[in-house]
Amino acid sequence: MHWSKTRSRARFNLATSGVAPFPLRDLPVNLQELEINGDNSYGYAPLQQAIAAHHGVDPDCVVESAGTSMANHLAMAAIIESGDEVLIEHPAYGPILDVAHYLQSNVKRFRRVEQNGWAIDPAEVRRCVTPKTRLIVITNLHNPTSALTSESALREIGDIARSIGALVLVDEVYLDAVYEGTPHTSFHLGPQFVVTSSLTKVYGVSGLRCGWILAHPDLAWRMRRLDDLYSATPVHLGELLSVAAFQHLNLLRERARRIVEADRKLLRDFLAQQDGISAVKTGWGTTSFVRLLNGDADDFLERLRSEFDTSAVPGRFFEMPDHFRIGMGVDTEMFAEGLDRISRAFA
Ligand SMILES: Cc1ncc(COP(=O)(O)O)c(C=O)c1O
Repeated sequence: MHWSKTRSRARFNLATSGVAPFPLRDLPVNLQELEINGDNSYGYAPLQQAIAAHHGVDPDCVVESAGTSMANHLAMAAIIESGDEVLIEHPAYGPILDVAHYLQSNVKRFRRVEQNGWAIDPAEVRRCVTPKTRLIVITNLHNPTSALTSESALREIGDIARSIGALVLVDEVYLDAVYEGTPHTSFHLGPQFVVTSSLTKVYGVSGLRCGWILAHPDLAWRMRRLDDLYSATPVHLGELLSVAAFQHLNLLRERARRIVEADRKLLRDFLAQQDGISAVKTGWGTTSFVRLLNGDADDFLERLRSEFDTSAVPGRFFEMPDHFRIGMGVDTEMFAEGLDRISRAFA
């Protein structure tokens, strides 16, 4: 996160993970109707209802949070006690690991492998859990690879968790970037599932910080009480604009889809022409994890930035230093030029 805030900027920035900002002027909302304060002590009812309707769940299961970052923190902090075993995918989105360490849990890992398209192998999860495992944590879509976990694999993971009395936390912040046959949230797969998500990545409205957790009502209440420590109450202007974003979600989604799919087409053509790299291709998601067949991705990315004013995310942030992550969802011309610069840097 620190690298992304301080070191990722470049004229051709492919170090993103979300869709380019949706302009406020394009959101059909009457700014005169906004208010600074509102009735939102444990969540703003219209926003909770909008999130609940989006997922087909009861509003009592919805906990508002400041983005998926705080959602992951609250969810883990409400579930884990210091010393509990937590099983997290590898490679993983760094801040998820950091929260688990910060909560002084005993972090264990299970591997996703490139040869298997980065898919989760439930047999590997079964091998890695112990009777002490309290929580299994995955991202779906997977950050950094955008691999999609099938419902049958999720059900198997749920069965494994249930058999040892553990819960499964699924970070679904990228799931709506599956534009055809968008899967339902895994929250419906059983009481052992806890889900985090937000409007921040796929819809271009990161600045609203509209995030949430789906959890069963008792656990949801524990998370709201824990959030008393952090947020007291959410920013009401953000809640009102988030309700408006939900009312026009198709507009945001179709615009995002156009941008992401134009970038995906360019990325496919680019990958087909390069000899020195490989990547598992997906038809969804906003990120692609690229392996540099020879050489060190850090050195390459340093040169890419200093000589070509182009950035991508070093794989070391995902514990895979021979990889780097390219983000789709940015301006198409900028993306095309960024890819061209990566080709020239290889050459
Ligand atoms: C898997 C995953 N979860 C959570 C986040 C944080 O998202 P937010 O901006 O909603 O806090 C990110 C951001 O990159 C992410 O990749």
